[in-house]
Amino acid sequence: MRVFFTGGSGKAGKHVIPYLLGQGHRVLNFDKVPLGAAGCHDLLGDITDAGQVYSALNGHAGYDELETGQGARAFDAVVHFAAVPRMLMCPDTETWRVNVVGTYNVIEAAVKMGITKIVVASSETTYGFCFADGRADPHQFPLTEDYDIDPMDTYGTSKKVNEVTARSFARRSGADVYALRIGNVVEPHEYAQNFPGYFADPELRRRNAFNYVDARDLGQIVDLCLKKDGLGFQVFNACNSTNGMNLPNETLLARYFPKVPVTRNLAPWESLMSNEKARRMLGFVDQHDWRAYVPGYGTT
Ligand SMILES: NC(=O)c1ccc[n+]([C@@H]2O[C@H](COP(=O)([O-])OP(=O)(O)OC[C@H]3O[C@@H](n4cnc5c(N)ncnc54)[C@H](O)[C@@H]3O)[C@@H](O)[C@H]2O)c1
Repeated sequence: MRVFFTGGSGKAGKHVIPYLLGQGHRVLNFDKVPLGAAGCHDLLGDITDAGQVYSALNGHAGYDELETGQGARAFDAVVHFAAVPRMLMCPDTETWRVNVVGTYNVIEAAVKMGITKIVVASSETTYGFCFADGRADPHQFPLTEDYDIDPMDTYGTSKKVNEVTARSFARRSGADVYALRIGNVVEPHEYAQNFPGYFADPELRRRNAFNYVDARDLGQIVDLCLKKDGLGFQVFNACNSTNGMNLPNETLLARYFPKVPVTRNLAPWESLMSNEKARRMLGFVDQHDWRAYVPGYGTT
């Protein structure tokens, strides 16, 4: 597929784009800064400028496409990752402007150009306790896509609104618009760098409910979304199958979430943010469990 990818120069995109290229997709990266990946053209632009988004979405994906003489044309799919990716990076008003207006611009332009596959980055923070003011509990575990998401911070709320925007456009157009509630993204080098510190102080990971998603496994989920047609609007938790901790759920829940109801039997190591829906509906099978990358890990 010819894929228009926003925000591909960032932490997640720089792993997801190579994965998509490896699957045979043609990718154009639309970002404010270049990625510089082999085989992927960088088009510098701003998602908050609707004119730029419309123009870029109906264009060439690289100089080689001039050779075909087919002119500018619409893309087959949009993967929208560009965002302010957490709170306290810039004032809340700017987070809202970039995330909400930018996402509206991208989805509207894609739908009005007849693009029928759109994948947007939502977030684990929509579950409402990651960036909560105070030590908040979720309503229940595991976190599943039918949860009544209730973030109190601007970043998480912007992602909740983006899910509403995505659903609205899917309904009016019939396009497939899949929102990924992405877990805490881990790049390959971060396992050895960060996980020993998490194991020493699990409290550091409580606000993520101890979940993680390997950046390459996130690439697999995006690719599966591109290949799976006909689901309309969907939300998928995008995380790995196990918790990113060396403690089993029984211990994690007793120590860090003692008051949170658990709605079904949990396997000892399964992620408290469930990826069951992505495995069942997309065929996701994660390839990069943290245990393969943290030297000398132990279970306690
Ligand atoms: N990193 C995580 O753990 C995590 C978790 C959940 C959700 N997400 C979401 O996943 C997506 C990717 O996150 P990331 O960690 O790679 O973030 P990142 O900040 O590393 O990358 C975001 C990219 O978007 C670009 N961008 C920002 N504003 C733009 C604009 N106005 N126009 C064009 N490009 C713009 C940036 O230049 C950057 O390259 C985001 O939507 C984020 O909210 C990330």
